[in-house]
Amino acid sequence: MSLIELQDIRRSFTIRTKAGRLRREKREVHAVDGLSFSIDAGECVGYIGPNGAGKSTTIKMLTGILVPSSGRLRVAGVDPARERVRLARRIGVVFGQRTTLWWDLPLRDSYELARRIYRIPDARYRANLDRCIELLDLGGLLDTPVRQLSLGQRMRGDLAAALLHDPQVLYLDEPTIGLDVVSKARVREFLREVNTRQGTTVLLTTHDLVDIEQLCGRVMVIDHGRVVYDGSLDGLHAAGQSERTLVVDLAEAGPAIEVAGARVVKVEGPRQWLAFPAQQSAAPIVAAVAARYPLADLSVREPAIEDVIARMYAEVAIG
Ligand SMILES: Nc1ncnc2c1ncn2[C@@H]1O[C@H](COP(=O)(O)OP(=O)(O)OP(=O)(O)O)[C@@H](O)[C@H]1O
Ligand SMILES: [Mg+2]
Repeated sequence: MSLIELQDIRRSFTIRTKAGRLRREKREVHAVDGLSFSIDAGECVGYIGPNGAGKSTTIKMLTGILVPSSGRLRVAGVDPARERVRLARRIGVVFGQRTTLWWDLPLRDSYELARRIYRIPDARYRANLDRCIELLDLGGLLDTPVRQLSLGQRMRGDLAAALLHDPQVLYLDEPTIGLDVVSKARVREFLREVNTRQGTTVLLTTHDLVDIEQLCGRVMVIDHGRVVYDGSLDGLHAAGQSERTLVVDLAEAGPAIEVAGARVVKVEGPRQWLAFPAQQSAAPIVAAVAARYPLADLSVREPAIEDVIARMYAEVAIG
């Protein structure tokens, strides 16, 4: 059995909107709409999708905060909504947008509370706290009240709090949101360590695709509450029909280049951009261009995963 299993999970919300001066209308939003997937122990899975796709709703159901409208859900053998307390010992959660720490207390006190709530044995607690202090560089921050911490410091504090009780699964909902590049790198390095060394299963929601590229062997794209892609990041390039770009500098500005297998997507003076399928060789296109046009320079650009995903989101929205 997998560590996390969802079968045809649905969750809708009823929203009341004003329609005219007195009338109110009820509308149902299907935030999660027939979601099925499973995640094995030790995986690090990226969970991505456009705003409103249902990512946070999924994570809330996986922690037991929200109850599914229908479907079957198991995390570490437990039905989250029914046995929320039992599940709490097996999972850790970090919501980038809000903290689980006590706002007015120093970090140290929040950790101490976690120790008592989860009844973490002393030796385990010391070892885990020491490891987090070292890897997240928390040493100088333990006695600072949480409200005085910067966003990046607080996020590191939250990560430690989520892991002190050795959870089997760590859910992260936008853990790098608003962080600077140095803090992001530190958080990613830490998560890699937690996943590969500790073997903690990680489900990571993010809008920063670098997080995914650096951490996740598997990525799930969801939209309108359904999985639209589940596989490797490389596979996403293929599924998203990604393209490489040949950047051509002509000796002088001229009409758009016409060659088989590529199409001009942009022209700026003597420079022209030609797109062609990423899996195709650039050689015949380069040869054809060079044979027919006087050239000053040429280069090939690899597809950016952002473009692939943007196209995928757009296609889902249209389809
Ligand atoms: N408590 C709620 N009441 C009503 N509607 C809700 C509630 N929570 C979520 N929704 C709606 O459900 C849909 C999915 O929301 P969700 O927060 O899961 O999206 P998301 O994928 O996390 O988006 P984002 O990338 O913006 O964080 C949205 O249309 C949202 O408005
Ligand atoms: Mg969200």
